Amino acid sequence: MIGNKNILITGGAGFIGSHVVRTFVNKYPDYNIFNLDSLTYAGNLENLKDVQNKNNYKFLNGDITDEIYINKIFKKHQFEGIIHLAAESHVDRSISDPIGFAKTNILGTIILLNAFKNLWFNNWLGKSFYHVSTDEVYGSLGESGLFTEKTSYDPNSPYSASKASSDHFVRAYGETYGLPYVISNCSNNYGPNHFPEKLIPLFINNIIEEKPLPVYGDGNYTRDWLYVLDHAIAIDLVFHKGINSQTYNIGGFNEWKNIDLVKLLCNLMDTKLSRKSGTSKKLITYVKDRPGHDLRYAIDATKINRDLGWKPTVTFEEGLAKTIDWYFDNSEWLKNVTSGEYQNYYKSQYN
Ligand code: NAD
Ligand code: TYD
Repeated sequence: MIGNKNILITGGAGFIGSHVVRTFVNKYPDYNIFNLDSLTYAGNLENLKDVQNKNNYKFLNGDITDEIYINKIFKKHQFEGIIHLAAESHVDRSISDPIGFAKTNILGTIILLNAFKNLWFNNWLGKSFYHVSTDEVYGSLGESGLFTEKTSYDPNSPYSASKASSDHFVRAYGETYGLPYVISNCSNNYGPNHFPEKLIPLFINNIIEEKPLPVYGDGNYTRDWLYVLDHAIAIDLVFHKGINSQTYNIGGFNEWKNIDLVKLLCNLMDTKLSRKSGTSKKLITYVKDRPGHDLRYAIDATKINRDLGWKPTVTFEEGLAKTIDWYFDNSEWLKNVTSGEYQNYYKSQYN
């Protein structure tokens, strides 16, 4: 390693984490970027092939819930900054495995906080723990209104409850021990390397394979979509310029009802696949609703825009087109992640 500052990124083999790792490795040659990931079904080193041989990058295969291992690597590498993304991240999986989500998302976060505290207590200057969280901690909006940084937490799924709890622990370490932290709460991401269990990549894959598109409930649920590279840019800004002890909401100002988004995706995919217009829409199948399904998420990103000058750079049209192109250009990636264990998950979730 060649840099003069050791930065730990957790969950760097996952969807968002891989874009953050790439951004940091390429943009900051004076940082040593350590990517700590336990390579669950969602972690994939294929996502980072282009940076794996850079001399300011190192992969650490480990679990954030393994306290002995975490304490060991903190002592060895003296991380001055942490960007914590490792988590179980899919709401449907949290419904069937709430305890697994609590372990990784809550306990794993506390173990990292504790290792950071034990290493730097009373020597906080220049250190920073950045916790990457979700807008889902705020619960569900009605037809109007936006989540601001002052909105009360009101999580409804085991996933969002575990993320809310981890956010509270980060704040508690700040208040109790003076640990320097920032938190960001972001809306739904989409883009390259997204595991095909979430709405957009799942439906892209199913359209390619001409499989049913399982729309939960009546499809009138709303999400605020952000291109993943815009999230990575925001994370870079918050890590370097965010004010200690503050929270930043990140969102695309880009609300879509699921059913409208699915219809748009169907049209784009018909064009891409040279299929007759209307072909993919015939795959839309309304299925049993998700329990505790949040009606609407939408972020007020005024603060990060005003204080840090961030705003999305990619329109939804551009982002969706880039995303679809990526899945077509990376059909091998898609084939690899949808073989094996994925098939069991798919059967238990949708059959
Ligand atoms: P992901 O599921 O694609 O990736 C998670 C990564 O964490 C994987 O590489 C996995 O192997 C790793 N991981 C899981 N458990 C681990 C453990 N115990 N130890 C070490 N590594 C472990 O998730 P994502 O969509 O990239 O989300 C990353 C972070 O961003 C999460 O904290 C999530 O809550 C947050 N977030 C996601 C979204 C979104 O739309 N995807 C939006 C806002 C916030
Ligand atoms: P998802 O991508 O799982 O993200 P989140 O639940 O974190 O917002 O789901 C986005 C929306 O799409 C959500 O309202 C649930 C819905 N959805 C479906 O209708 N069918 C599906 O098969 C999936 C995975 C999601």
